[in-house]
Amino acid sequence: MERLSIDTLVNKENPLSISYVPSDLIAVDNNEYNFHGYSDPNLKPMVSSQIYIPFLDLEMASVYDGLHITVDSGYRSAQYQRALFMNRFVLNRVDIKAKFPDISPEELDAEAYKLTTSQVAKMGCSEHQTGYAFDIACYKNGEYSAATTEEERGWMNENAHRFGFILRYPKGKEEITGFDFEPWHYRYVGNDIANRLYNGGDWITLEEYHKSLKLKL
Ligand code: DAL
Ligand code: ZN
Repeated sequence: MERLSIDTLVNKENPLSISYVPSDLIAVDNNEYNFHGYSDPNLKPMVSSQIYIPFLDLEMASVYDGLHITVDSGYRSAQYQRALFMNRFVLNRVDIKAKFPDISPEELDAEAYKLTTSQVAKMGCSEHQTGYAFDIACYKNGEYSAATTEEERGWMNENAHRFGFILRYPKGKEEITGFDFEPWHYRYVGNDIANRLYNGGDWITLEEYHKSLKLKL
């Protein structure tokens, strides 16, 4: 069975086994509106216990600054990731068909597939399966909301690295990460690497970090 570490690279070229499930998942938030299919029967967001304390520190710091960052989507099973991919593919197909009614069925499938692969990882290729990643949500006036504001996303962009988290899919790095800019998706890598990758706000990707390690060998 795979043993992951906090800097393990998971992407389109480096998938996890689809049977991989972290052994230390822990419920991280009690919001009841979470729609993701977690292994926990109460459908609460789960993360690896290795990121639990850093996450709580981050959450507390956000509250101190007048916001309340929480977890929307944490751990996802490979099977659940597959369902997300399929759902998004179907939605994208409908959207593209509405925009281009005369498109051929083959072209429609090809375009919808291409778009979906830039938005959602395929089964085994999502770092949500590691338990080290989470998408942010927030509480506003005590109410859970999966929709975050520029202010909340900006706060995360500036502060997450202080707690060991990186913005995993930065703007302008789409060719490197293989995914569109995702201002909501953060990945725990520990303080040392996070500080390095923060790079004064000009984020370095985990792909670039791993490449730099190989070059040094
Ligand atoms: N949206 C990110 C890339 C995922 O599906 O894991
Ligand atoms: Zn995500």
